[in-house]
Amino acid sequence: MQTSLENGKIAALKKYMGDVLEKTDRPESYLIAVLHRAQNLFGYLSREVMDEIALTMNIPTSHIWGVATFYHYFKLKPQGKHSIAICLGTACYVKGAGEILRTVEKELGIVIGETTEDGLFSLHEARCLGACGLAPVVMVDDKIYGELTNQKIIEIISDYRKRDRKSKEG
Ligand code: FES
Repeated sequence: MQTSLENGKIAALKKYMGDVLEKTDRPESYLIAVLHRAQNLFGYLSREVMDEIALTMNIPTSHIWGVATFYHYFKLKPQGKHSIAICLGTACYVKGAGEILRTVEKELGIVIGETTEDGLFSLHEARCLGACGLAPVVMVDDKIYGELTNQKIIEIISDYRKRDRKSKEG
């Protein structure tokens, strides 16, 4: 059964698509904007959400799926509370980003593209976060952490875990 929160999100998405359909006779040209809106609302693009978009905008689901899987930005699975993006761009890579990635994967017990069982972290890769001078760099949510070492990244992850525990306690 859908919650009232989910119903509200579906209603918001339908309203957005309705506004789009009113201003264009080429809905597919707004598809990326609609997918962005859907991901902002739901956190990821589920099969049900893509079917809803297909139905409302009269675009084949296969086309929507193709667009959603082409762009790395779009997430097709539920995401963790925090996103950890490891920069694997050249400057970071030569400064040991591969080692940082292995440390994070080991610490979280997941690989790139996965979410931890407790739903706290999702792990992603990035290609240059525009902070090469601080390489190696990791972005957690919208915060950049630079000049990382294995120990530093483990401490950062541990801080997020502690903060999450505290917020649950009250
Ligand atoms: S290569 Fe990592 S920030 Fe530029």
